[in-house]
Amino acid sequence: MSLIWQLKKAHAIEIGAYQAYKGHADSTKDDLIKRKIKAIQHDEFVHRMEVGAMLHDLGEKSNVFLDIILWCIGSSISAACHVMGARAAAWGAKIMEIMGSSVYWKLARTATDSGHQELHAKFCEMARTEEEHEKYFAKLFAPQCTCRYLIYLNGNKSREANPFCRAEHRD
Ligand SMILES: [Fe+2]
Ligand SMILES: [Fe+2]
Repeated sequence: MSLIWQLKKAHAIEIGAYQAYKGHADSTKDDLIKRKIKAIQHDEFVHRMEVGAMLHDLGEKSNVFLDIILWCIGSSISAACHVMGARAAAWGAKIMEIMGSSVYWKLARTATDSGHQELHAKFCEMARTEEEHEKYFAKLFAPQCTCRYLIYLNGNKSREANPFCRAEHRD
């Protein structure tokens, strides 16, 4: 796949991610987690602007059809976040971030292969940002399993009452 086509795909994916995080943030009750999701959503906005600028510098534009499709998918995920529950939403976000980082790692390779070495470092940086997002959602998703085990050990049936669980969940 050419550099231009991969950039168009990345642009559309960032639109979808931004839309999905709207509902994810709005459906989150915990203020700390809500703020973090909004910060991640802002990162996706910045990525979209950066990819758009790269396309512009290469004399290209984003693919409107692809952008609309991903906007629809992102908006559907956004709406679904209100009914799927926090754990499922974090799991879905983790999967989305894995896809995001792989897109940018692939772009970094393609940039080098196609003679655009100047873009390589930027794509690596973007891929690492997506990996940081993924780690955050993995923490949100996984601790619930860990917490259940700790609660079981403590004989405490209430997850909310477990300070270790709450601290880990909020990290
Ligand atoms: Fe992104
Ligand atoms: Fe991300």
